[in-house]
Amino acid sequence: MDGNGRWARQQGEQRVFGHHHGVRAVRDTTEGCAEIGVGFLTLYAFSTENWNRPKEEVDALMELLVQTISKEIKTLMDNNISLKAIGDLESLPRKCHDELNLAIATTSSNTGMELILALSYSSRWEITKAVKEIAELVKGGKISTEEINEQVISNHLCTKEFPDPELMIRTSGEMRISNFLLWQLAYTELYITPVLWPDFSREELYKAILDFQKRERRFGMTSEQVKIN
Ligand code: IPE
Ligand code: MG
Repeated sequence: MDGNGRWARQQGEQRVFGHHHGVRAVRDTTEGCAEIGVGFLTLYAFSTENWNRPKEEVDALMELLVQTISKEIKTLMDNNISLKAIGDLESLPRKCHDELNLAIATTSSNTGMELILALSYSSRWEITKAVKEIAELVKGGKISTEEINEQVISNHLCTKEFPDPELMIRTSGEMRISNFLLWQLAYTELYITPVLWPDFSREELYKAILDFQKRERRFGMTSEQVKIN
């Protein structure tokens, strides 16, 4: 979800104004995904690197997160959505952490879409953590080096209970991944739109999905092989 700051500047406002308007896009996208039967939606809300932003902006984002989570529990319940989170959640302010856990617990028996918030998340942080965990297992004699395979690595990532994403949408036109799900995106289709996040909507979501539906996903095979399968 990128472009809140630029959107605000275009309106002659402070960056935080953009973050507040981004909440509408979050609601619209989440409901839109749930309606059309998307199983998993991951929103990259705050990266490890975002902690380096000015303190006022970080504080405002954390406050907005607390408010939004508590306000939107009803939206989650109405849409049968269960909330999950990935990232270094311990590093979030206490209030934020508590509100998040409450929303996760409240929505845990919902059976529809899983909404995963990436908070204080970065892929390199996640992979480093996985490597340490696996090294400990080897050290303790729980597994051998030969037994380490892609499945073992996947099982030590924060996303172990989720499938790899089929589609990644990035707003604001930046042509980069910015430390998001590097391992998991190996064969994900990328869709980059110039639309700034506060202007993203159901309609923009549908455009992205229609584009995705035209792609041929070969996973390294030839077009002919894919057609036979
Ligand atoms: C929102 O957009 C992403 C968050 C970290 C919440 P930005 O704040 O990165 O907006 P730009 O890139 O400055 O326009
Ligand atoms: Mg940005």
